[in-house]
Amino acid sequence: MINEILSLVEKHRDWRGKQCLNLIPSENVMSPAVRELLSSDLGHRYTARDHFYMGTSFIDEIEHCGEEIAKEVFRAETADLRPLSGHIADLIFLASFAKPKDVLMCVSPENGGYPGMWNDGLAGLFGLKAVPFPFSKHDMNIKVEEAKEAIRRFKPKLVIFGASLITFPHPVKELAEVARENGAYIGFDGSHVMGLIAGKQFQDPLKEGAYTLFGSTHKTFFGPQGGIILADKEHGEIMKAKIYPTFVDNAHWNRIAALTLALAEMKNFGKAYAKQVIDNSKTLAKALHDYGFPVVCQHLGFTQSHQVLLNYGGYKQGRVIAEKLQPANIIVDCGVRIGTCEVTRRGMKEEEMLKIAGLIERTVVDEEQPEKIKKDVAKLCAEFQKVEYCFEE
Ligand SMILES: Cc1ncc(COP(=O)(O)O)c(C=O)c1O
Repeated sequence: MINEILSLVEKHRDWRGKQCLNLIPSENVMSPAVRELLSSDLGHRYTARDHFYMGTSFIDEIEHCGEEIAKEVFRAETADLRPLSGHIADLIFLASFAKPKDVLMCVSPENGGYPGMWNDGLAGLFGLKAVPFPFSKHDMNIKVEEAKEAIRRFKPKLVIFGASLITFPHPVKELAEVARENGAYIGFDGSHVMGLIAGKQFQDPLKEGAYTLFGSTHKTFFGPQGGIILADKEHGEIMKAKIYPTFVDNAHWNRIAALTLALAEMKNFGKAYAKQVIDNSKTLAKALHDYGFPVVCQHLGFTQSHQVLLNYGGYKQGRVIAEKLQPANIIVDCGVRIGTCEVTRRGMKEEEMLKIAGLIERTVVDEEQPEKIKKDVAKLCAEFQKVEYCFEE
């Protein structure tokens, strides 16, 4: 058993870490220093808000340090690094500001909204009624005028921007006033675009009228897997008071220390990183479009995020493409969403995006032998093993 688990982890590391082009938009890689903190002694320790546990003085300082840098990076009045995942951060927002039978308005899963927020997920758990934002698939965005109408009609208690499939900034500025006037708490689930927001290359939800920005720390944000909540003072303090003992007991201090270091990396290198992620997406989208792939939103320049969306009409058809790419060690989801965050963190730029588009074309269109393509994928990956946008060791 010991050999089996060690060998499986090693095989996975060599395959996904060294031989694959990882183009899943929900994934990224940590720097070696951030990774090292994940296996530090902090991973064995407990703290509690009422200081029930002794021995926590350094941990308390780490928490303070993490919150301060998060506030700075996200231009927020309060920050909380305790949510164990993006999903838990979503849950904290919902549970803090809504009660059963309230209406929640967000992008529906059918249009790329996060399924975990919807009626089968957290909305159902809390007895909320999820109502979709009117949405244009043509523009891959919320329809502003119709959404104003819908907010006036449904009077949602929660209006949540952000989505799992997000290629363009959402109209927070345009809808914040009507949402506020109709009694809504405004949130932005930035799970996907957190790193682009931190790097100031996407939108700034807290400035545009959202009370809180929450989500994952490991998609475009290149931290450890986990969650974060940023907010104004009033709403941030309401959520902070709920987190313990309702949603998080032990907050996993190794993760929080690692996240704090990733925040420092983001403060120093975030702008260059986020800009390159978006430039890479645009280049990849255009190249795939030129090869005849069904890339959405040509009329809007394809994308302004880390995602390039190929529209095959649904997950079932998307799966066919994703399964065709996997034997060539090109890893995408069944969306088909193609993400440029990890390859950018590994140092790839526009030139490599053209190569990636070529490899995808050879696999999907020309149907070349995957074994042949695999070799070229491995060659490209071998040149980009070092993690960039971080402090030198
Ligand atoms: C928009 C959105 N919110 C929340 C989540 C959940 O995040 P996590 O996987 O960190 O729990 C996801 C996951 O992909 C997501 O896309």
